[in-house]
Amino acid sequence: MESVINYINSNLHNYINELIEYLKIPSISTLESHKEDVNKCAEFIANKLKDAGMTRVEIFQTEKHPIVYGEWLGAQNKPTVLIYGHYDVQPVDPLELWKSPPFEPVIEDGKIWARGANDNKGQHFVHVKSVESFFKTHGSLPLNVKFIIEGEEEIGSDSLYSFIKNNKELLKCDAVLISDTSMYDKNVPTISYGLRGLLYTEIEVTGPKADLHSGTFGGAVANPINELAKIISKLHDKNGKVTIPNFYKDVLKLSKEEKENFNRLKFSDKKFAKELGVKELQGEKGFSTLERLWVRPTLDCNGIVGGFTEKGAKTVLPSKAIAKVSMRLVPNQNPHKIFKEFSNYVKSLAPKSVKVDVRMLHYGYPVITPLNSKAIEAASKAVSKAFGKKTVFTREGGSIPIVVEFMKHLKAPAVLMGLGLDTDNIHSPNEHFHIENFEKGILSSVYFIDEFSKV
Ligand code: BES
Ligand code: ZN
Repeated sequence: MESVINYINSNLHNYINELIEYLKIPSISTLESHKEDVNKCAEFIANKLKDAGMTRVEIFQTEKHPIVYGEWLGAQNKPTVLIYGHYDVQPVDPLELWKSPPFEPVIEDGKIWARGANDNKGQHFVHVKSVESFFKTHGSLPLNVKFIIEGEEEIGSDSLYSFIKNNKELLKCDAVLISDTSMYDKNVPTISYGLRGLLYTEIEVTGPKADLHSGTFGGAVANPINELAKIISKLHDKNGKVTIPNFYKDVLKLSKEEKENFNRLKFSDKKFAKELGVKELQGEKGFSTLERLWVRPTLDCNGIVGGFTEKGAKTVLPSKAIAKVSMRLVPNQNPHKIFKEFSNYVKSLAPKSVKVDVRMLHYGYPVITPLNSKAIEAASKAVSKAFGKKTVFTREGGSIPIVVEFMKHLKAPAVLMGLGLDTDNIHSPNEHFHIENFEKGILSSVYFIDEFSKV
């Protein structure tokens, strides 16, 4: 192990420079105009997998964005770990709020600043470099490694869903290792065992067949924006509960042990509020903040479109208004069942004077991974060794919908070894990743490979 660690220390500078090159590629999966960049990015990471010692590397074309696969299977009778990551990133708007351009990475204040630095290029690159360091020092690995790095995570992973179903043998493994979540706090080694699911919808309210003069017609016909706002306002009650019928019906209750574990984490509402620049936190009554973030379902409006939104004023009674509404789901809620309830409920709230359409854009199931697997044990030891502290176990508010698919089709436990911080501004301007977490992440990965090879 010592030789690997020495190798990492003397090559860290190069590894950071390679990550910088990776981050320069604007692989925004949701924007058609970036299609070429997405392809370029797939090729970039495929080449890095080759450099890292993978003997078979393939780029699988899909209906949307390529899936990159790499393997080294030279460790006979040893376990196989499948390492997952995503090379696609979120859009960068609002661009004017970035302190440096999102695709011109800079290192400042011990952090690397760029879109994708944390989510997810920086986090999965850690594993590519750990494997490479092993190879360069030993010429082999103590276990078998497979990589699967997709380009559609931020838009719902459609292609990977069918890829997993059709390639169970190719992806067969004893554990799936994923670094795409957060540490509980800086320098607190963390393994997560739960993710919320997601149901993403759009409500479209249509009134008159065309935009109207709000003086000539205002007062006589329904205004879709007004009606949409009324609907949205009825989706929560005064205690912060979501009012959709049966919304909480299948929600798994928190066990006493889990609740105690949450309490031991000593979460500070005050510190959290301060970090976010709000005077006070808010949410469902009767639950602690960690419960509201990790084990309670929520509903949020993500955007509203309609009417006149340019600078200045225009008197108009719009024909249409649209709201993007997403729900974070928890075990054992079913996104399809919830969508039905939601759609019926929203329609029941609207007056006859408008037409309401409710559409599902995408969804993902919530997940809990059992804590008693050998893989979790190895991961817990590994991060503890790398960060020099006791590992804590958390759940997450965010979603990685593909995790359930891995567990279902490959029958392997998922290990969520988060290396980011909640303060890293993912999906937001000025995303960054701590260099220290990059470095200790590579160590964590090396220790994991060592530990898991022994089981
Ligand atoms: N890395 C995040 C998921 C995440 C964020 C987990 C923070 C834990 C803490 C991932 O890239 C992501 O953003 N997922 C989307 C899911 C989706 C279907 C677009 C999400 O959670 O919104
Ligand atoms: Zn993301």
